[in-house]
Amino acid sequence: MSEWSPSSWRSKPVKQLPSYPDQAALEAVEKELAAQPPLVFAGEARALRDDLAKVARGEAFLLQGGDCAESFDEFQTSHIRDTFKALMQMAVVLTFGGQKPVVKVGRIAGQFAKPRSADMEEVDGVSLPSYRGDIINAINFDEKSRVPDPERMLKAYHQSTSTQNLLRAFANGGLADLNQVHKWNLDFIAKSPLGERYENISNSIEEALAFMAACGINTQNAPQLRETTLYTSHEALLLPYEQALTRKDSLTGRWYDCSAHMLWIGDRTRQPDHAHIEFLRGVENAIGLKAGPTTDPDELLRIIDTINPENEAGRLNLIIRMGADNVADHLPKLVRAVEREGKQVVWSCDPMHGNTVKAPNGYKTRRVDDILREVQQFFQIHKSEGTYGGGVHFEMTGRNVTECVGGAFQITEHDLAARYHTYCDPRLNADQALELAFLIADHIKAAR
Ligand code: PEP
Ligand code: CO
Repeated sequence: MSEWSPSSWRSKPVKQLPSYPDQAALEAVEKELAAQPPLVFAGEARALRDDLAKVARGEAFLLQGGDCAESFDEFQTSHIRDTFKALMQMAVVLTFGGQKPVVKVGRIAGQFAKPRSADMEEVDGVSLPSYRGDIINAINFDEKSRVPDPERMLKAYHQSTSTQNLLRAFANGGLADLNQVHKWNLDFIAKSPLGERYENISNSIEEALAFMAACGINTQNAPQLRETTLYTSHEALLLPYEQALTRKDSLTGRWYDCSAHMLWIGDRTRQPDHAHIEFLRGVENAIGLKAGPTTDPDELLRIIDTINPENEAGRLNLIIRMGADNVADHLPKLVRAVEREGKQVVWSCDPMHGNTVKAPNGYKTRRVDDILREVQQFFQIHKSEGTYGGGVHFEMTGRNVTECVGGAFQITEHDLAARYHTYCDPRLNADQALELAFLIADHIKAAR
């Protein structure tokens, strides 16, 4: 394979990149970004790889979740806090039910760039370039808004640093203390049957903590009880941005993309000889790879060898996103190919992206039932193949949105208009996400 450098992707064919009208402006932004501090440190990225190696070996479970797309307008402390709380609630349910450590990874602090199926969007006979995420252009439907603007990369970077700063404070400053487990229950969930189920777990944890404290183990002498780690991740789509944040680690001399702990490759940009694979093969972060229904087993093996030539557990997270009607047809042949070749991977399930539908009233939505069906089949298939279904990947928020239909509060297509806030794909709200966590905990328990 030819020599890798942070810019070697530039000589490869590339999909889904915007063409910036002003090259000089783009280069000036790249230069400015390259001089900014990293968002994460190489040592943290290595810690995530160690944690994911445990997942690959079946000793831990991966929970990855957050917005489909972060946005500049929806940037608020309360939104970040509620998503943090929802992830913590899910993690508690999974840890308690599944009795395995849960590795928590947010789609957050950098999840701004969106791949699109169509280059153009048409509304009432007017056709404009598609919205590609706030880091590239603006969502408003007018010509000027849709022009890619490199300055947006700087704004996304600075918003990501603030978000990361807040997450670190939440994780280490008291909110993640297990004695706070009751307080993570979000108001609108507390009143539901799900809230009650969560309260039961919280009570058991409280009892266990009181017992441990009586034995001398408490938040003073056992920091695991009062702190957590929430790693960050996003789709490494906008390569000029990713390259600008890529740094050589002074300890190891290796390259890390310091925009997030984990980066993933989308289903539309995983061509083995193209730019996205080229860029990501050379950075040492944990890498996610989305695999949809068009994934060919031989091609998958080729990508695995390119990204993870040393076959190290914890390097590669295969994120399966087939759709509830396709997963039974497509997943077993991928599992068998990967197993046959002895490749070390994390198998995780994204039950969102293969289950997007358009409601009759025009809203893009997903049915909680389809999501459940895909998750259930994912675990079933791993059980029959003798492999470990090690994680899940959700588009979700801690807010009480109405974007996916079904769930404990029985959101209908008619309800979608009430609180539909997403900038791209429909997210699970906190109670729908928590419901899934309870179901998944049962599967992890059953697989033990
Ligand atoms: C996403 O995760 O937001 C996404 C676009 O996924 P995929 O590449 O699997 O379609
Ligand atoms: Co999405």
